[in-house]
Amino acid sequence: MPDDNSRRRFLLGAAGIAAVPVVAGVAGCSSDEPASAAGRTATPTAGGGVTAATAVTLASGRRLGSLEVSSIGLGCQTMPGNLYGPVSSRENMITIIRTAVDQGVTLFDTAEVYGPLESERIVGEALQPVRDRVVIASKFGFEVNQETGERGGLNSRPDNIRRSVEGMLRRLRTDHIDLLYQHRVDPQVPIEDVAGTVKELIAAGKVRHWGLSEPGLRTIRRAHAVQPLTAIQNQYNLLARQPEDQVLPLCEELGIGFVPWAPLSYGFTTGTINPYTRLTQGDFRSAVPQFSRENMTANMAVVQLLQDWAIRKGATPGQLSLAWLQAQKPWIVPIPSATRISHLLENIGTEEVTFTGDELRQFTTALNAIRIQGERLPAPVLAATGVEAPMP
Ligand SMILES: NC(=O)c1ccc[n+]([C@@H]2O[C@H](COP(=O)([O-])OP(=O)(O)OC[C@H]3O[C@@H](n4cnc5c(N)ncnc54)[C@H](OP(=O)(O)O)[C@@H]3O)[C@@H](O)[C@H]2O)c1
Repeated sequence: MPDDNSRRRFLLGAAGIAAVPVVAGVAGCSSDEPASAAGRTATPTAGGGVTAATAVTLASGRRLGSLEVSSIGLGCQTMPGNLYGPVSSRENMITIIRTAVDQGVTLFDTAEVYGPLESERIVGEALQPVRDRVVIASKFGFEVNQETGERGGLNSRPDNIRRSVEGMLRRLRTDHIDLLYQHRVDPQVPIEDVAGTVKELIAAGKVRHWGLSEPGLRTIRRAHAVQPLTAIQNQYNLLARQPEDQVLPLCEELGIGFVPWAPLSYGFTTGTINPYTRLTQGDFRSAVPQFSRENMTANMAVVQLLQDWAIRKGATPGQLSLAWLQAQKPWIVPIPSATRISHLLENIGTEEVTFTGDELRQFTTALNAIRIQGERLPAPVLAATGVEAPMP
């Protein structure tokens, strides 16, 4: 959709950090990853990250409410190496984050429970030298021991939110969190109490913006009435399009941005996973119904569609997945995770992929004709989504 795309593009102005290398002194490229991955010639940057001669630098940004961010963010949940299997090394995760900064990414997504605690520590260490040039998003909402990381159930009581935020500030090595989300609605705590607590944290300068993840619709309205929301973060991808029914229209009505998590369907729509892929033990995806062999076999029709269009558009299936999400609304900012530099650079390269209005209609019509099989999350996790908070 050229009009949409041109409307959404604006230079990042003073916040623009394109091609400004991060400080020196970090480890080099991942040892398990040839520097020439994806056919690029590697060039070390001052940041110690490895970018490539053909790598794209993000020059356009988007707005989540009043918050300016790059058109694609970086999800950092997988960096501790306990969600989709082990990662190459902690040093390499820091290099990836700093490479993302070098390539113009300004939005970094983490949460207290990722690791637990460790994802925030990695993000904090990586971004400390460029803190004033990036947007850090994190999430509270569970009972988490701030020393050991031991995790309990949902807890969005005000004292727990305040305790979580103090821990986050230490781990993220900062005095403020740019975008603080409630990770899941707590069915025991009125959203007015949560919003009121966040409002106080904003007044104290510890938080700049806030959002909700996977909330019920009425909860969005109630939260927004107490303290305006900047973003809703829900799962949204080619295999999980539920936000289109009611959440995206509500965001549009209220002027709230939208951040799709798992924008690559946990990697499935990149075309690098098929029904015969062997996942490592403990890989979260083996519990996701969409990842059963039978459902993956049926859902390969989406990958086939992407592969057909990838040739036509001169892009990769993953880039088309991200570009399709971006084409839906100018205030949508996907946050794919990547623990390989080649994946990060490919995702950033989505910058160069756009749909014309006709192409978007054609692609979406073909997508609509595919019957997606399997739920997007395991049943107990799914049950915690779309929840309405109790009334005060
Ligand atoms: N609010 C919430 O409840 C919630 C829930 C889940 C996630 N999130 C956020 O959303 C972020 C992204 O979600 P996600 O990690 O679950 O799913 P995702 O971004 O859809 O998929 C990540 C997977 O795709 C792979 N990948 C990424 N780019 C690729 C490429 N270009 N080619 C091939 N494979 C590629 C990654 O591999 P490598 O690691 O090998 O690069 C990883 O296995 C998380 O990091 C987190 O910040 C939020």
